[in-house]
Amino acid sequence: MKVLVTGAAGFIGSHIAERLLARGDQVVGLDNFAPNYSRARKAANLAEYGDHPKFEFLEADIRDADRMRTLFGHHQFDRVVHLAAMGNVRYSIEHAQEYAAVNIAGTVNLLEAARLTGTRDFIYASTSSVYGNAEVIPFVETAPAVRPLAPYPATKIACELMAHTYHVAFGMKCTGLRFFNVYGPRGRPDMMPFVFTERIAAGQPIRVFAGGRPQRDWTYIDDIAGGVLAAIDASFDYEIINLGRGQPIGLTRFIEIIEQLVGRKAIIEHAPLPPTEPMITYANVDKAARLLNWVVHAALQGRKVAVVASGKAAVGDGAPSSIRNTDQVSVGLAVGLDFTLPSGGVAVGRDGVQRGAGRDSVEGATTALPGDTAEAPAARGVARRGPRAPCAPRCPG
Ligand SMILES: NC(=O)c1ccc[n+]([C@@H]2O[C@H](COP(=O)([O-])OP(=O)(O)OC[C@H]3O[C@@H](n4cnc5c(N)ncnc54)[C@H](O)[C@@H]3O)[C@@H](O)[C@H]2O)c1
Repeated sequence: MKVLVTGAAGFIGSHIAERLLARGDQVVGLDNFAPNYSRARKAANLAEYGDHPKFEFLEADIRDADRMRTLFGHHQFDRVVHLAAMGNVRYSIEHAQEYAAVNIAGTVNLLEAARLTGTRDFIYASTSSVYGNAEVIPFVETAPAVRPLAPYPATKIACELMAHTYHVAFGMKCTGLRFFNVYGPRGRPDMMPFVFTERIAAGQPIRVFAGGRPQRDWTYIDDIAGGVLAAIDASFDYEIINLGRGQPIGLTRFIEIIEQLVGRKAIIEHAPLPPTEPMITYANVDKAARLLNWVVHAALQGRKVAVVASGKAAVGDGAPSSIRNTDQVSVGLAVGLDFTLPSGGVAVGRDGVQRGAGRDSVEGATTALPGDTAEAPAARGVARRGPRAPCAPRCPG
């Protein structure tokens, strides 16, 4: 099939485009190299797959409605996978107009171009942030998503509403995928794994909210990509589906893993949780499991150390650690997180108090993190992990 992937030079978009090409689909990738991070990094993402004979790239801005209509006039797309967006919660707070223009108006431009040219299947990225401080934890799709904490999630809620409107008014097939805290190779340099790693490696302080109690449901890119491809193939009439790991991890533990990867203690500056940040993100993935056969393959991720060990992006000048590049950080986190699955279930309320039977089980967590020689430590890490702990039970906040 022929698929338009917007945001194709970005973190998630580059993985989706690459996976589609690998299985034989034809892909048109679109991106405007927005300055949220360096063009060089995005060009490097593109270079991973951009010379594929079934790939075509268009540097264009989704805010340009005429250009979007022309694009859809030239191609008959079987699917649109819309990932282009401004995506940083913190930055959105003082840039609401820009977020509205790109995320809302840009999405409507694509929906409009699609419906005018008879393109019926529209899959788009939404976010766990739409849940804000949801009452029900883990976050379930049936919960109202009407109280965003920042402009970014507000724009994503607007996209969901527009998609529903185009489904009802024009019969378009629209699937919104709410991604939860995605990380992995080619990860965004403005996100926590990389910001913290860079700063810890450079001996600079990191700001830690709410005593390190906030939890995030970090989800590995390969799992996200698998979920997106499953949604592409399923071609639902209209759905909104969480794609998350369903295993949140506390900030303190997350920092410990990075410290062990980098080989340096973090210098921590404590700060209260801003009102724009939720205390937890935690996906209920029952719907994804039912509709997309969503299974998190965390246990496999250690093997990827071998694949990325020769990556290029340097972590912090003079980082003293065994970590040589940001992709290793991603994979090291995957291994580290994999060792920290709650053994009996854990959830956190908005007061930051952990509830539930389990605590992080960290046995052997760090001894198996990747070093200079990739394969052996990774393989040891996976082997030592033992049987996977059960999913955390549903826990009220
Ligand atoms: N990374 C996460 O943890 C996460 C979580 C939830 C949702 N999402 C969503 O997933 C999608 C992809 O996010 P990502 O992490 O890969 O971010 P990213 O910034 O790496 O990728 C987004 C891409 O969109 C492009 N873009 C931005 N504005 C554009 C415009 N006006 N016209 C054309 N292209 C434009 C950027 O240049 C960038 O390459 C976004 O919609 C984001 O909101 C991401």
